[in-house]
Order: sequence, then structure tokens, then C-alpha cells
Amino acid sequence: MPKNIIVSNRLPVQVENKNQVWTFTPTSGGLATGLKSVHEEGDSLWIGWPGVSDDLLSKKNKKQINETLSKNQFRAVFLDDNELDHFYLGFSNKCLWPLFHYFIEYQKFDIDQWEYYTLVNQKFADEVLNVIEDGDIVWIHDYQLLLCPQMIKEIKPEVTVGFFLHIPFPSFEIFRIFPKREDLLNGILGSDLIGFHTFDYQRHFLSSVKRILNLDVNYNVIYHQGREIEVNTFPMGIDFKKFEKASYDNIQKSGLESSELKKQINVHKLENRGKLILSIDRLDYTKGIINRLLAFERFLDNNIEYHDKVRLVMLAVPSRSEVSQYKILKRQTDEVVGRINGKFATVNWTPVWYYYRSMDFENLIDLYVSSDIAMITPLRDGMNLVAKEYLATRVNNDGVLILSELAGASKEIPQALVVNPFDIEELAESIKTAIEMPLKEQKERNIISRNRIERYDIEKWSSSFMKSLKDHAFNLGTSKVKLINSKIAKQIETSYRNSNKKLLFLDYDGTLINFHKNPEKAIPSIEVLKLIEKLKSNSNTDVVIISGRSHLFMDKYFSSLNIILIAEHGLFIKNKEDSWKKKKGLTIEWKEHLLPILNTFTDNTPGTFIEHKTNSVVWHYRKADPELGKTRSIELKTVLQSLLPNGLSLLDGNKIIELVSSDVNKGVAALDISNKKKYDFILAAGDDVPDENMFTSLPENSYTIKIGKKKTSANYFLRKTEDLIKLLSLLE
Ligand code: UDP
Ligand code: G6P
Repeated sequence: MPKNIIVSNRLPVQVENKNQVWTFTPTSGGLATGLKSVHEEGDSLWIGWPGVSDDLLSKKNKKQINETLSKNQFRAVFLDDNELDHFYLGFSNKCLWPLFHYFIEYQKFDIDQWEYYTLVNQKFADEVLNVIEDGDIVWIHDYQLLLCPQMIKEIKPEVTVGFFLHIPFPSFEIFRIFPKREDLLNGILGSDLIGFHTFDYQRHFLSSVKRILNLDVNYNVIYHQGREIEVNTFPMGIDFKKFEKASYDNIQKSGLESSELKKQINVHKLENRGKLILSIDRLDYTKGIINRLLAFERFLDNNIEYHDKVRLVMLAVPSRSEVSQYKILKRQTDEVVGRINGKFATVNWTPVWYYYRSMDFENLIDLYVSSDIAMITPLRDGMNLVAKEYLATRVNNDGVLILSELAGASKEIPQALVVNPFDIEELAESIKTAIEMPLKEQKERNIISRNRIERYDIEKWSSSFMKSLKDHAFNLGTSKVKLINSKIAKQIETSYRNSNKKLLFLDYDGTLINFHKNPEKAIPSIEVLKLIEKLKSNSNTDVVIISGRSHLFMDKYFSSLNIILIAEHGLFIKNKEDSWKKKKGLTIEWKEHLLPILNTFTDNTPGTFIEHKTNSVVWHYRKADPELGKTRSIELKTVLQSLLPNGLSLLDGNKIIELVSSDVNKGVAALDISNKKKYDFILAAGDDVPDENMFTSLPENSYTIKIGKKKTSANYFLRKTEDLIKLLSLLE
């Protein structure tokens, strides 16, 4: 039975050697805790690093560890000190993590670390390729593995690959400063479905794809290498039922059964020391821990009446402690906590209870259940599950959540006290508001929030992602337009060899060569010229290059081949050794009326330009800002369509709008040629809207091939120009 393969840097268990015994403890962090329920559900294999350096392990150790892991369907990717240093601590956490969280001043790009990042991503991809079987679906997670999707797709194009980013995707203006930005985007684009927590991250990602890679994007679908890649928002949820149940159990426990922590909290309550404010995060500079402490200090400064009537319980979970910024943060946190306690503490009251460690599930629940207020105020956070977990445990609907507007969770929980974590005054004020909030208001707010968190839980999150991914795979399989795989390629070759009269129509831009920002620079490669030379020397084969380019361009590069050339979509034709012939009876008076409109749009849209051909005019917007170019092209189309004289057509092509005579099109030109002889093999390949005329006008048994998988009336498609060259090489 096909399985789901989850791939993440960390496995949800941490392997440690304690007194010569291997122990397996759960890891903290949203990704691991969230995906655990997904993994436990169906037939699933989870590939990741087990949290221990390879340098500490013998072959035997690794075997033992893998055996234990495999009982839970985990599979280890072992990383040595060097890899951990460069890939994990280095590139992932000193470069990508700060960059994606807008801490530009902390991010360091190091080319050696980049090399390691690439190597380790390849290691994960290889592990997947080792275990993958037909029908399996791969789901890759987070910023440590951005290159992995493409590495898998390259080797196994038929495998369905999903990717989810658990951290924010930054705005284009931030992302653009990253030196290897193209590689990262291309890496992610190996996926079929890409998921983000919020629409903002999705929008930033698409903006970078458009601006950096110049790819076609239609709403949330990216066209890349002949694939349609879907991008969507899936806000990650929590295992609501598990937290709710744990909360009920916790409330019912007698004093004797309680944990040490719970007993300490009970003393606080018994002594009537007021409200408990909870703060839980990994000790990370993105979490806004210092600002939170400063706000608590400000609150105590401003509200003497609350001294001895409130306490901040701060749990800071150790994280990435070998990275210098985390070391600095640890020092700062110790200092500020010390200062606040030193400033306000009395014999009976310490304002901040500070724990620098991780807590097990039971203790976490103790904290959630006992706290009147949770203060979750990251400076930037992909989602933040702690906020949701706190609300899930509020089974009586009481409690107040103070939540940063810069956490992804704030989009789903607007009923919380939403604050700007950079505004210390506002934060301090929100503490007072939370303490004084009437129970009725707390309940009103929490009923709505809890409802949402219960409905869109972790199960819903993973099943909607998986459903979209599977639908994507299904649509590919049932599409009427078939991808030319090796079997179909063989059939085409056999049919070609068995035919007596063969005709090949080849479009130029986007078919024989890739697009270039400057069309003049998109000249045929030696490889393409040699290939055409060989094809035309095959017996009984006529080769036609059929293009929208000017006849001067075509003449310059192809006349020496002595093949059939069609230029300007059929206005000009050159038959082998003959000279160029122009279609008769066409006027260009319309130019005088319509050109001023095109000029105005060109002036108003930087990066656009007009190309004049003999009988047509083309407005190019490939070099314009992609969004502005698209918007202006829609406006221009609307204006032109209302003014089009009889006999003139508007072609809406790949980043161009062309005005051309209606009786000139590739369909008419191709049909004229195919009718001249009794061809029993016709192949036509093209990538753009004008080629569709050719696909529909040729006889039904022709092999019509679209380059790139967009809407088409062709029978087949190939993903990229390079694939067509390979196919044509079979016919040499
Ligand atoms: N967590 C934990 N042990 C702790 C503290 C927190 O397992 O001592 C869990 C917590 O329950 C939550 C996750 O760690 O599920 C933190 O996820 P979040 O999205 O809030 O932040 P991240 O660490 O992923 O940035
Ligand atoms: C965040 C990241 C995860 C990461 C976790 C813990 O949640 O999105 O990818 O696993 O933090 O960080 P660590 O560096 O310990 O894996």
C-alpha cells in the first residue's frame, strides 16, 4: 500500500546517550509536536535527523538506533559534527532563520556553509529516493530542506511532492538580498503543492517567484518547466482534543497526584498572590522575550497596586545554544529577569518565575491550566502553536490571550488581545487590560477562538494539505493532454520511421529555444542548428520553422539551412532555396490609429517596448514589473478590443500583445503547406497562443505537442524545450 513519506530536518524524537544507555525523548518545537499526530494516523514513514552527532556513533550504535526508530516508522539521516556545524547551526540557523524572520542584521551568508546546505539536502533527498515506492507521496518540511523537492523531482519526475514552510516567507525586498535566491526558489519549485501558514507568506513567495524567476503565475498557480505548481494557505492547527482532554484530567486530579510544579502553583493561589501570566517559548530572539520582560517591568513601574498581586511564569526552552545570537539572548534574559526580580521582589513575592529548560507534556498542561493570562508576543513567528494550545486547555472559556500581531496565529485568533510586540507601552497596557478583563468578556472572546481552533485542528490541516496534493496528482493522471513519456516517444519514433512523407512544424521562441528578456539575444544554439540540419537531410522529411518573428530575423539565422520558413505568423513564407514571398492584399492603415495608444501604454509602463513588424505591431512587457505588466496588458487589451477594425486580430501571447491581420495566422499557413503533399506523418510543436491555431487546423492524426503544460488543444505536452530537443534527436 502506498505510504506518505514525511521529511523534516528533525525527527520528533531526540536520541541521547545517558550513562551508556540510548534514550529517546520527544523534541519540542511546533513542527515536531504538530506533525506527530499526522504521522501516527496512517501508513507513514518519517525521515529526519535523530538529534545526535554521527561522530558519537559506531556502526553498531547506528544499527541499534535505527532498529528502535523503525518501530515507530522513523528513519534516521545521520549528520556528523561538520555537517551539523555548517548545515544546521550555520546555514539554516545563522543565515536562513534570521533572514526569513526579518533579522537582516543577524544573517550571515557563508559560501562554505551553502555548499554543506546543498550536500545535506542531497543526503535527505537520497534517503527518500532509497525508500520510495510506486504511489508514495512525499511531504517535505521547512527551511532546512528548501532544495530537497527539486532534487527528488529531478530524479523521479512522476513522484508527487508537497512542501510546507513552517516559518514566515519574507517580503520580496528582504528575500532579494539573499545571494542564492534563484537556487532556493527553484529548489522549492520541485514541489507540486507548496503550503504556507498565512496568505501574506504565500503572497510574498509568489511575488519573489514572479520578480526573481520571471515565471508565469495565474492566481495561485505557477507554470514552471511544464508543470503547474499550486501554492496555498494551510494554517497549522493543534491536536485540540488531546489538549482539551489533558486539561479536564488535570483539573480533576487531587492534590496528592499533582506534579511538583502544580504544587508550587497551588501555593501561589492559596496565598492569594493574584494573577499568573504565562510565557512559553524556545529561547529565540524572534520570540520577543526581552520586550515582554521590559513590558512587564513597565507595568509594575506604572501599577504599584499590582505588586504582589501578579506573577510572570516564564518558560524559556533551550534552543540552538551554540549559535552566538542565542548565547547573547540567554545572557540578556538572565540579566533582565535578575534586574526585575531584584528591583521588585519582597520576602514573600518574586515577580518572575523563570525556568530555562524544557518541560514534559504534563507540566506544560499544569502551566496552561493554571495561568490566567498567556502572553505570547513574538517579534515574528510563522504560526505559534503555544497560543492555540493555551486556548485549547481553557475548558471553562476563561483566561486571556495577549497575542502578537506578528505571529501567524493572530490571523486566526483576532479575538485575542492583539498587540504590536515592538510597542512596550502598548504591551504594558495590555497586561493591565488582561488582568482587569471581566470574566464575561473573556468567555465571549474565547468561545469564538476555541471554536475555530477546534474546527481547524491538526487533522484538518494535514488532511486538507494531503487532499490538495492528491487532487493535484489525480488531475495530472486524468488530463486529456498526455505527457510524452519514453513509451509515447518510442511510438512517435516508430511512426516516423514507418512513414513515407514526413512534415515537422517547429515554432521558434519557447519551443526550440528558451525565452530571453531581450528577444534579439534569443538566437539559435549550435545544437539546435545541427539538429535541424540532420532532420532535413532525412529522406522524405520537410522541416518548417514557423514563427511570429520578422522575416529578417528568420533569414539571418535559418536561410542557409534551406528549409521551409514561415515568419510573422504566416505573412511571409520562404520555400527552401526560393526567396521570401509575402501574402498579398493586406493593409496597414490601422497602425496610424492604434499606434498612439500603444505609445501611451509604453510611456506609462517602464520596461515595455514596441516591436514593428511588416504587417503587425507587438507590445512586449516581459521586462516590466510582472504585476504592473500584467495589469497594464489587461487594460491595453480592453482598450484595443473596443477599437479593433474588421480584419485585424489581437494575439494575447507570452508576455506580448500583438496586432495582426485576421487572415494571417499559423493555422492557415500550416494547413497550406500540409495540403501540398500527401504527408502521412505530421508533427507540430509550439508553446504559445498563436500555435493553438496550428494545432486545431492540422489533420487529427497529427502529433501536436505543447511545450509547457498550459491550456491547449494539442494532444501531447512536454515540460520544456530541452525535452523537445531530446524527442527530435530520436528522429535524427
Ligand atoms: N513545547 C514542548 N516542551 C516545552 C515547551 C514547548 O514540547 O517545554 C512545545 C509546545 O507545546 C509547542 C511547541 O513546543 O507545541 C512550540 O511550538 P511553537 O509553534 O509555539 O514554536 P516553535 O518552537 O515552533 O518556534
Ligand atoms: C521551529 C522550526 C522547526 C524546528 C523547531 C525547533 O519550529 O520551524 O523546523 O525544528 O523550531 O528548532 P530546532 O533547531 O531545535 O530543530
